[in-house]
Amino acid sequence: MPIHVVILAAGQGKRMMSDLPKVAHMAAGRTLIGWVLEAVRPLRPASTVVVVGHGAEQVVSHLPPDVVPALQEEQLGTGHATRVGLDALGDVAPEDTIVVLYGDMPLLTNELLARLADRSDDVAARMVTSVFEDPTGYGRVIRDGGVVVEVVEERDSDDDQRAIGEINAGAYAFRAKDLIAALGGLSNDNSQGEYYLTDVVGILVGRGERLEPVETTPEEVIGINSQDQLTEARHLLQARTNQRLMESGVWMLDPDRTYVDDTVTVEPGAKIYPGVHLEGNTTVAAGAQVGPDVFAVDSSIGGGATVWYAVLRNAVVGEGCEVGPYASLRPGTVLEKGAKVGTFVETKNTTLGEGAKAPHLAYLGDATVGARSNIGAGSITCNYDGYEKHQTIIGDDVFIGSDTMLVAPLTIGDNAVTGAGSVITDDVEEGALALERTEQRDFPGYSQRRAERQAAKETED
Ligand code: UD1
Ligand code: CA
Repeated sequence: MPIHVVILAAGQGKRMMSDLPKVAHMAAGRTLIGWVLEAVRPLRPASTVVVVGHGAEQVVSHLPPDVVPALQEEQLGTGHATRVGLDALGDVAPEDTIVVLYGDMPLLTNELLARLADRSDDVAARMVTSVFEDPTGYGRVIRDGGVVVEVVEERDSDDDQRAIGEINAGAYAFRAKDLIAALGGLSNDNSQGEYYLTDVVGILVGRGERLEPVETTPEEVIGINSQDQLTEARHLLQARTNQRLMESGVWMLDPDRTYVDDTVTVEPGAKIYPGVHLEGNTTVAAGAQVGPDVFAVDSSIGGGATVWYAVLRNAVVGEGCEVGPYASLRPGTVLEKGAKVGTFVETKNTTLGEGAKAPHLAYLGDATVGARSNIGAGSITCNYDGYEKHQTIIGDDVFIGSDTMLVAPLTIGDNAVTGAGSVITDDVEEGALALERTEQRDFPGYSQRRAERQAAKETED
């Protein structure tokens, strides 16, 4: 039976106290709506519609191309939103399955959705329920003789109903014809003046249809309405990702202090120390050691590399490279095999060839450094003249002496050497020594004379 999915995401999420539409908030590497769509994907739906309203453009920008947005101009309730979603679904046969989910439930799993969408026993609908220690804010599931008969929203409930711990999670699977018929019968005669999707439950039961609850743990169905719930969800999602990585063979010293986006790839055999944040499409190869304290976004770390106390943005760290402690690799940095970027070194738009080294205190911007070349401490590429950026090309096996200023544009030939403290403004040919500094002059007996002058001054006073 074809499955269609409608995800409701038109609400503003007032309780988030944020300008961002609720479902566009990020948690552990995906937006809330992104997590729901991930959980849905294995159902292989014939069509998926996301109902948008508040911040529609922002929400739509996070949707993959095969998901259809439907605009709910006015937020008249979850029942109304479902109707808007159905209209956008296109061809739906009466016996098809329609899964309706809320966009603020990032912890939904595919296993739960597979149980929900199972239509083997021909019920009119299934709905996810869970027993909460503190059910405050949720719709309560009313049973009669064990059979689900109704959902009552907290605001419309009486004291007895509020004491019920079983809540409506907000995930449903309907036989299409039954959902369509029941939506037609909704009224907005309730405390919020809204068309509640939850009233469909009572309507179907009233028509003598069977409705099966699908029970699950509270953790899987928490709905995000506030920043503290977002943080709780982030924590749980991160724990899941870390668990998956460890099961695959990734070593983690302290998963509670390891923050890896779901979009990141970490190969088995990599070692992750605490304080590591890996974001975007970052990859870490087997045998790499990352951390403590690394922030890497959209970067790749090669096999056997060591990266610690470092920030990497759009950087490529090759096999066996060493980065840090205290290094900043900015966009366009490429370290080839075995290269080293050490303490207090910043690179930008720069390639270090195989085995090249900048071990301490350097800035390399818009530069190419050849294989095995060494950049001495305190050296920098003066790549910016106040108007434009210029390139520095350094050949293979070059030795840049400590505290060399390389004033770009500049080309240094293979095997060349620059003397410490030189300001190099002209190209240096292959194999040459370039030296730019005044000659040293010594003044013998200086310290003695100075001490005598000082002593004389003190007797005068
Ligand atoms: C809803 C349920 C409640 C359930 C809870 C689970 C209803 C009436 N109540 O309450 O039984 O326990 O979720 O978290 O369904 N939305 C729209 N258009 C609208 C209104 C809402 O798209 O006009 C979307 C929201 O963006 C949100 C979802 O529907 O993603 C749920 O709305 P929300 O206001 O969060 O419902 P709750 O009060 O939490
Ligand atoms: Ca909610």
